[in-house]
Amino acid sequence: MNRPKHIAIIMDGNGRWAQARKLPRVIGHREGINRVREIVRAAPDLGIKVLTLFAFSSENWNRPKKEIEALMRYFHDFLDNEVKDLDKNNIKVLFIGRNDPLTEEIQKKMRAAEEKTMGNTKMTLVFALNYGSRQEIVDAVKDFAHLAVKNKVKIESLDEEFFGRFLYTSNLPDPDLLIRTSGEIRVSNFLLWQLSYAELYFVKKCWPDFKKEDLKEAVEAYSERKRRFGGIDAK
Ligand code: FPP
Repeated sequence: MNRPKHIAIIMDGNGRWAQARKLPRVIGHREGINRVREIVRAAPDLGIKVLTLFAFSSENWNRPKKEIEALMRYFHDFLDNEVKDLDKNNIKVLFIGRNDPLTEEIQKKMRAAEEKTMGNTKMTLVFALNYGSRQEIVDAVKDFAHLAVKNKVKIESLDEEFFGRFLYTSNLPDPDLLIRTSGEIRVSNFLLWQLSYAELYFVKKCWPDFKKEDLKEAVEAYSERKRRFGGIDAK
C-alpha cells in the first residue's frame, strides 16, 4: 500500500463544533486537543513519519483577546503535560513559525521540548505555531539576501532545493497529503511552497470529531491516488 510519509493537517472547525452545541468556542479548542492526542498516537501505526499540525496562524492574532488567551493557556499546558509522554513514545517535537509575539515562557517551553526530544526517531511531530507561509517565504528571501550581500552565497547558486533550506521546514520532507477538516476548501496560507505536489483531502467533519478512523480513511484515500509530479504514469 502506498502510504503518505508526511501528513499536514489544518485542524479547522473547533469554534463551529462548539457553537453547534451551544458551548463557548474555547470548549471546541479543548476537545480539539483531545483529537491532537488521539491522532498523534495513531499516526505512527499508519506508517506516518512526519505529522505537521496547524495550531495557530499568524492571522489568528486577530481573534478576540479572550480566545487567544485560552489558546495560549492550552499550548502552555500541552507543553507542560504532554512532552514527557511524547518523549517516552520516541516522538520528536518541532515548532515552525515566528517566535514574536509568543511569550518568553512559551518560547522557552517550545525550545525545551525540541531539545528533550531531538534524538527521537519514531515520528516527527511539527506544530505550526504563529505560522504564516507568505511570512516564511519572505523571511527566507531576507535570510538569503543578507548572505548574498555579504558574498557568503552566490545568487546563481539559488535553486529550489537550496531555497528550501532557508524555510522553517529546512530539514523536513514536503507533505504528501494535506488534510483539512470542517468542509472549508482552501489552504489558508499554510505551507504554500511545501504543498506544491501534495494530495489534498477535505472532510466535512469538524476537527473535534476527527477520530483515528478518519485518519485511516484519509490514508487509504491517498493510497488510491496517482501522483505524477507533472510527468505521466509509469508503465
Ligand atoms: C481552527 O478552528 C482551529 C484553530 C485556530 C486552533 C487549532 C488548535 C487546536 C486544535 C488546539 C490546540 C492545539 C494544541 C497542540 C494545544 P476555528 O476556531 O477556526 O473554528 P471555526 O472555523 O469553526 O471558527
